[in-house]
Amino acid sequence: MYDADQNRTERKVGQKDIKITARDVQVYYGTNHAIKDVSVEIEDKTVTAFIGPSGCGKSTFLRCLNRMNDTIDICRVEGNIAIDGEDIYDRRVDPVQLRAKVGMVFQKPNPFPKSIYDNVAYGPKIHGLAKNKSELDDIVERALRRGAIWDEVKDRLQAPGTGLSGGQQQRLCIARAVATEPEVLLMDEPCSALDPIATGQVEELIDELKQNYSVVIVTHSMQQAARVSQKTAFFHLGNLVEYDDTEKIFTNPQDSRTESYITGRIG
Ligand SMILES: Nc1ncnc2c1ncn2[C@@H]1O[C@H](COP(=O)(O)OP(=O)(O)OP(=O)(O)O)[C@@H](O)[C@H]1O
Ligand SMILES: [Mg+2]
Repeated sequence: MYDADQNRTERKVGQKDIKITARDVQVYYGTNHAIKDVSVEIEDKTVTAFIGPSGCGKSTFLRCLNRMNDTIDICRVEGNIAIDGEDIYDRRVDPVQLRAKVGMVFQKPNPFPKSIYDNVAYGPKIHGLAKNKSELDDIVERALRRGAIWDEVKDRLQAPGTGLSGGQQQRLCIARAVATEPEVLLMDEPCSALDPIATGQVEELIDELKQNYSVVIVTHSMQQAARVSQKTAFFHLGNLVEYDDTEKIFTNPQDSRTESYITGRIG
């Protein structure tokens, strides 16, 4: 099993800073023990892929990182998760503020039933990031550019976000997520509803985003994990089985379960 403590002592000079530290995390849905004793350190300015068979706990663990599990009544999270050394489950942490700092993009594009402009402006507005309309306009433009969708929507910012194609909606949702200047971006199978062209655009975008953010992406596509990530975590039955450089996971995995999964024997 992956041992975070051993990894820490072996940390070499020149490695990236650690953004998120999870220690002994357990997640229960009622009596279902969905995440078992997971400890991991997620690097800054890096794309980390979570892979593993359906039901192994990828989404559950991802949701721990911005307390989205708080919204699920029967869900209980134990252990410690810190971002930049600060416990995100501390009573003093406001989950709404936390989610502005740790943005999330879901499997199904979910624009608000509002204009393209308002979809992106909403977060910056509630978090008071703009002093006036022209600052807000700038934030919206910058976010849409980062979402690689500005050119396609700049002439129809007042049109409804739901009127865009699926791939455009997903890029709008990415723009919405980056508009609040998050430090971490969580993406749960962000390309599963997209065609290969839109997938390519989102992957390019992920590659750019890692210059500023820590990006964590859940994916069922090994090709995608190999293309976009530098680190990969393999989950199986609620355990974090192996966590290492993506290249190592895909060429020389240490655990037989990882090998079976990446060669298509389980999953
Ligand atoms: N909202 C929920 N309520 C109750 N149980 C849940 C909930 N979400 C997940 N679970 C359970 O937790 C376990 C892990 O599920 P999770 O959705 O995290 O897996 P996953 O790896 O993301 O799977 P997939 O690849 O199919 O998305 C499963 O046993 C699942 O049934
Ligand atoms: Mg999932």
